[in-house]
Amino acid sequence: MNPLDYTIRGGCSPNPQTEIIELQVADVALKQYLSNTLYQKKGLKWTYNWFHFLTHYSTSDPQILKYLHEVRPYPSYIEIETTTHCNMECSICEHTYWDEECKHMSLENFNKILDQFPELKWIGVTGIGQSFLNKDFMPMMKGCKDRDIYVELFDNFRYLNYEKAKDMVKWGVDKIYVSLDAATKETYDKIRVNSDWDVVMKNIKNFDCAKKELNSYWPELWFHFVVCKDNIHECEKYLEMINDLNVDCKQVQFSRMLHKFKEIEDKFVEIPDGTKEKIIEKGKDLGIKVSWNIDSADVKCPLKSCALWTMPFIFVDGTVIPCCSMNEQNDRNWQRETSLGNIFKDDFRKIWYGDKYTKMCEGIMNGNPTCQCERCVIYDKN
Ligand SMILES: C[S@@+](CC[C@H](N)C(=O)[O-])C[C@H]1O[C@@H](n2cnc3c(N)ncnc32)[C@H](O)[C@@H]1O
Ligand code: SF4
Ligand code: SF4
Repeated sequence: MNPLDYTIRGGCSPNPQTEIIELQVADVALKQYLSNTLYQKKGLKWTYNWFHFLTHYSTSDPQILKYLHEVRPYPSYIEIETTTHCNMECSICEHTYWDEECKHMSLENFNKILDQFPELKWIGVTGIGQSFLNKDFMPMMKGCKDRDIYVELFDNFRYLNYEKAKDMVKWGVDKIYVSLDAATKETYDKIRVNSDWDVVMKNIKNFDCAKKELNSYWPELWFHFVVCKDNIHECEKYLEMINDLNVDCKQVQFSRMLHKFKEIEDKFVEIPDGTKEKIIEKGKDLGIKVSWNIDSADVKCPLKSCALWTMPFIFVDGTVIPCCSMNEQNDRNWQRETSLGNIFKDDFRKIWYGDKYTKMCEGIMNGNPTCQCERCVIYDKN
């Protein structure tokens, strides 16, 4: 099998500019694959996909950014909202305040989307909803893994039981964030209304057991803590709690509440100077890697350096928006009005190369945001 052959990378030869970058990625991926048994278990195509993602997404390399803008290669990474059903009422989440009717995406529609991305390398399967309530969610993940796509999700572990964990490990799902924003049951109950701390703790431990039983490095288990007024005092304790859980935690990520919408305004909290550093230090003491999300930066990054538009987010009804950072503002109507199209009505190629996407990308490149980016909390036109 020739690693530089496009067929193993899931597609046909693209244009010459794309070819140069992709061959460089393929070269790095091959070297990594040959020297690392973890990658060998995953296979060469997966390794290529992973290094493709690492090279392009969230890059600050001016050469790659220039290439992305000039060539606008067809997306290799997407996020799909597989459901908007949810039976929890988390105090910080827009879903709790919606009046929109909830919906599951069918497996058929999910596959219709996947079929439009034959060279897809990475997928996020989290929307604003409780993924495991969708009966088709497991087959959706399995289908992605059958295509060697890197699969990432966020979940609160309320319904992710041992049987599901075992299947996910067997299929090689790649990364899962545990959405847990408290160090104690008391604080958890205040934020994650209608969940169950004890069941969640049991499911996390069982997930780790499933990995150990099957002797698998994957899925990587990360923890996600959204900082708000009700839990900021527990950040350090949170790391101790994870340490005591004694599970294989790859990293803990702290985020801010993305948008300050009316219903959660009072929960928003500024992160005092020195807090981030203190928590990172605490992690080091415990041997836990800690990161702060890009959305918690004190100064916004320049708009021109945004590469997040290369990972479109697709709503359960097919609405296409440029990225996931426009979620969690409790204004789905605005998101639909400013959307770039609907994948169930138009071929994605038409949307991607259409007027709206083109103008939005030009706006980012020129530092003049179009309506889709004017509410951005990460990038600014400075
Ligand atoms: C919307 S949830 C959907 C998946 C699943 N229901 C869960 O709770 O993990 C995805 C992630 O968004 C986070 N989240 C919820 N509200 C948020 C907010 N206002 N700002 C930033 N992230 C938020 C959740 O904690 C979770 O990690
Ligand atoms: S954070 Fe997740 S579980 Fe909580 S309300 Fe939102 S979608 Fe539901
Ligand atoms: S909304 Fe922000 S992160 Fe998303 S594409 Fe626009 S500038 Fe980038």
